[in-house]
Amino acid sequence: MAETERPPTPAVDRVLEVARSVISDLDLETVLGHVLQAARELTGARYAALGVLDRSRSELERFITLGFDDATRRAIGPLPRGRGVLGELISDPVPLRLADVGAHPRSYGFPPAHPPMTSFLGVPVFVAGEPFGNLYLTEKTGVERFTEEDEQALVLLAEFAGVAIDHARRYSGLESRHAELAQTVDALEATIEIARALGGQTDLRTILELVAKRGRALVSARALVIERELGGDTVVAAAAGELPRDLIGQRLDQHGTVSEAALRTGRTLRLEDDPNRARFGRHGLGRHGVRAEAGLAVPLLFRGQRQGVLIAIDRLEDGPRFSADDQRLLEAFAASAATAIATAETVAAERRKQTLAAAEQERARWARELHDETLQSIAAVRLGLAAQLRAGADPDALLETIRESVDTLDGEIGTLRALITDLRPAALDEIGAQPAIEDLVERARSGGLPTELSISMAYERGAQPDRLESELETALYRIIQEALTNAGRHGQASHMWVEVEEDATTVRATIRDDGQGFDTSAKTTGFGLAGMHERAELVGGTVEVASGPGEGTTVRATLPARRRGASRAA
Ligand SMILES: Nc1ncnc2c1ncn2[C@@H]1O[C@H](COP(=O)(O)OP(=O)(O)OP(=O)(O)O)[C@@H](O)[C@H]1O
Ligand SMILES: [Mg+2]
Repeated sequence: MAETERPPTPAVDRVLEVARSVISDLDLETVLGHVLQAARELTGARYAALGVLDRSRSELERFITLGFDDATRRAIGPLPRGRGVLGELISDPVPLRLADVGAHPRSYGFPPAHPPMTSFLGVPVFVAGEPFGNLYLTEKTGVERFTEEDEQALVLLAEFAGVAIDHARRYSGLESRHAELAQTVDALEATIEIARALGGQTDLRTILELVAKRGRALVSARALVIERELGGDTVVAAAAGELPRDLIGQRLDQHGTVSEAALRTGRTLRLEDDPNRARFGRHGLGRHGVRAEAGLAVPLLFRGQRQGVLIAIDRLEDGPRFSADDQRLLEAFAASAATAIATAETVAAERRKQTLAAAEQERARWARELHDETLQSIAAVRLGLAAQLRAGADPDALLETIRESVDTLDGEIGTLRALITDLRPAALDEIGAQPAIEDLVERARSGGLPTELSISMAYERGAQPDRLESELETALYRIIQEALTNAGRHGQASHMWVEVEEDATTVRATIRDDGQGFDTSAKTTGFGLAGMHERAELVGGTVEVASGPGEGTTVRATLPARRRGASRAA
């Protein structure tokens, strides 16, 4: 995987410094200038431009550029009005990233004196929910194309730009604008900082912490909590400010909470409004000792997907109610934060997926090598010895030895065969999950561990037309395989029970042994249990391991039953 070069931290800091220093005379033009500057610095683009739509929203009324010298600008002549690729973003306002802008079907070429441009990145800017214009970047310095990270950074910046432009429009000429604009720059700072953390491939936990801290500072809240849904539960994922200790990581009953209502409606709710006040006190955070006189519960939504809820509690200055402006700012911030969280999550999942894919490849290589090398040579020895045995000319003792060698080697070959099959669940793809699991259990039995199996999978019993996604089948198979291996290897179990049930939405597997059990909190150097959790998480499920010395061990896996045909049906 190619590591992307991130812009050096000082560059972005400079942008913020500039932004702060000119707050006092910040007007629309200055805001637009800052946005272009920041866009270039964040992504390393040579040229940046902002096209502002006209009233009809079908053409550009203004085109502000950065990166051209005056002579070039004069030579190019009239500014573009929004045909060609620029028009693509007007008719379809979603991010557009191209390695070669000239190769796009809508491209109609540059005017003669125009500098050559290949790499292109464009994102739309919305102000108060309406299309305002587009940010265009071209010619990423030093490399051939803009990266996914550049795109995400620019999307965040465009979101800020929307807020800043809205502010500049609404407050220009007003005395009160100073404080408001200062707050807007705070939003820019928070947004850029999060974009930067993302670019630095920071982990999800750090991003959440950052969102909590910056969000709290942005609206001067006494406290801010981020709740997220994890495997069917609601968890306090991050928090900042005055709050009961040990709140982070707490599981909350989401039923009847203000957050649940905010997520359901996709709207911000105020904690001080009836009936939210009562709801907050009785359910969720309120039940865990969090007090609020007023507050905002803002849903974190990314492309309609729920990422969680931001809950800001009690404004410290002029509080405890948050103003309508606070609400707008926090909502804009929440939009950026949701993007950041979704991205961090994708990056993390991608990384895990790659680790697992690498492990899987490694196993395949092992399987091949064992087959081609070890197995072949042992088979050769066996042939040689067997030939000697057939010759039968040597004394009885030698004959006996040879016989033993053959037996040993036969055993070895059997073991290796089993190992190869274990390493590669090829059977899974060919014969399906249920028969493959039956096969796995059969092998445990023939290894000397009496195992009872009760399995009823939806596809196999004809309740569903499609098999589970192949990733899910592999996860299920590997989890059962590891649990069986562990029971035999560590538990000295004398009996095992495997149960697999599946309905339309969920697959549940329980693997229980009557062995000696173990302390699940003890540290281990093994990969098996960690791998089980990782696999389950990767497909959106969970694994629980219950055990204790002398109690046997139970592994419970709960996985979502996504099917191969699901995308076809959608
Ligand atoms: N069913 C079980 N019965 C008793 N002890 C168990 C059982 N499953 C796991 N353990 C204990 O937990 C430890 C960690 O298990 P894990 O599967 O993660 O690693 P491992 O089996 O030692 O090595 P690996 O799986 O990487 O080959 C084991 O070493 C063992 O002490
Ligand atoms: Mg193990």
